Amino acid sequence: MRTQMRLKDGSIVKIEPLNGREDAKEFQEFINTLTKEKTYLLVNKPVTLKEEKQWLKTQLLEHRKGHQIYLKALINGRLIGDCFAKPGFGRNQGNVNLGIAIAKNWRGKGLGYLLLTELIERSEKKWHPKNIYLHVISKNTTARRLYETLGFHIIATLPDWFEYEKKYLDEYMLILDKEKFVQQKKTSYEGSKKR
Ligand SMILES: CC(C)(COP(=O)(O)OP(=O)(O)OC[C@H]1O[C@@H](n2cnc3c(N)ncnc32)[C@H](O)[C@@H]1OP(=O)(O)O)[C@@H](O)C(=O)NCCC(=O)NCCS
Repeated sequence: MRTQMRLKDGSIVKIEPLNGREDAKEFQEFINTLTKEKTYLLVNKPVTLKEEKQWLKTQLLEHRKGHQIYLKALINGRLIGDCFAKPGFGRNQGNVNLGIAIAKNWRGKGLGYLLLTELIERSEKKWHPKNIYLHVISKNTTARRLYETLGFHIIATLPDWFEYEKKYLDEYMLILDKEKFVQQKKTSYEGSKKR
């Protein structure tokens, strides 16, 4: 398990799970900035501090119960990204869903790749899932490129699914090819550094 990572620009990012000491205001600012920026995330309006506190409480509880992995990415103690892995309920327990968001100034430096790699490895170790999957909006080309690099491919299209700026966009469901994931890791920048 990695607790810190070096980005392409040399910055060192600390990775840690939720621990209950989070500053709800910082999390609120993080999500509201992403919403204002009109990223392809589900949240479509600003959240209040009360809502954010409640949301954090739920995430922490789920994390502590072992029902999800929730990781924060920090630079000098400040939140710059987060990601989660969550198995489904009951007969869907073998299917783990992933999600990720990174603050604008910290994108394109390899953090998304490193965080998801860590999240996939922790998920494998914890749950040995049958499927690791995620959803992405057709127009979210940066995210799609990253997911393809990691070894995900489209298995379903939900046509006209996601409401964005008064239009309905297609949403894709992607599944991880675990062999591809292992292979690409060996040839990636990080993997080649270790050899
Ligand atoms: C989508 C998102 C998470 C991507 O994060 P990111 O940190 O910018 O992504 P990265 O820099 O790790 O990866 C992007 C690129 O690097 C590649 N890459 C990065 N590190 C790599 C490595 N060590 N080895 C191989 N490839 C790597 C990726 O495949 C991709 O290729 P590119 O060279 O064409 O840019 C980020 O843009 C974001 O938070 N967007 C807003 C919210 C959002 O859309 N979330 C996803 C919803 S589905």
